[in-house]
Amino acid sequence: MAKHKDREFGQELFARLEQLAGTANLAGGEVLTESQELRKMKKFRFQLLHRWLVAHFAPCRVADIAGGKGLLTYLLQKSGWQATVIDPHYQPLSEKYKDIATGQRVKLVQTDSVPHINKPFTREMAESFDLLVGMHAHGCNVEIIDAAAQFGCAFVLFPCCVIGEPFVPPPGEHWLESLAIYALHQGHAVRPFRLNFKGQNIGLFGVGRERVSSLVLA
Ligand SMILES: C[S@@+](CC[C@H](N)C(=O)[O-])C[C@H]1O[C@@H](n2cnc3c(N)ncnc32)[C@H](O)[C@@H]1O
Repeated sequence: MAKHKDREFGQELFARLEQLAGTANLAGGEVLTESQELRKMKKFRFQLLHRWLVAHFAPCRVADIAGGKGLLTYLLQKSGWQATVIDPHYQPLSEKYKDIATGQRVKLVQTDSVPHINKPFTREMAESFDLLVGMHAHGCNVEIIDAAAQFGCAFVLFPCCVIGEPFVPPPGEHWLESLAIYALHQGHAVRPFRLNFKGQNIGLFGVGRERVSSLVLA
């Protein structure tokens, strides 16, 4: 029952976000259905986001903000992107991960590593990147939107909590709605999308209107 309610709430929130996004001509609508494949995919959030990114963006310079162990950065590098983790807490890559295209477990060797900036994310860092990604990026969501507006980057956010952020949503408004409204006010075109992993799985994709055609594939 609780799961059913969660799903309904997620669907309502997604619909409200789509309404906010309006007619923004951006890629992104990965529709969730109860297909066999999606039931299997619940926990592979980095692999799912990697797949979504390579399907919707041309390879570019991407900052994986609050990237933790750096699996997303590793996968993007393998796809020919220039990716860098920005996270003050350095963690080495995991020893293995599942390739969701083949279903195989892939072992990493000890020498595998990814570029890593061991500092808290600050706005000026965005200058060297085209795309800012924040997957559950603790306290960084508003800073990422501001940085993207200042330096003309696109952003992809999977916001979770409001802790450490400079503002909180007004009563009755979800945190994702507040962020979407804030991003629209900063001049971004914004679009929600969903990936099938456990937890907060609604993403916000934003890009300055003038950059839509140069970055987005479809
Ligand atoms: C909830 S974890 C998310 C990690 C990873 N993205 C994931 O989805 O598993 C939050 C991460 O935010 C990082 N973090 C906290 N404050 C940060 C900041 N100001 N700038 C960049 N990363 C930060 C933490 O070190 C931690 O790795």
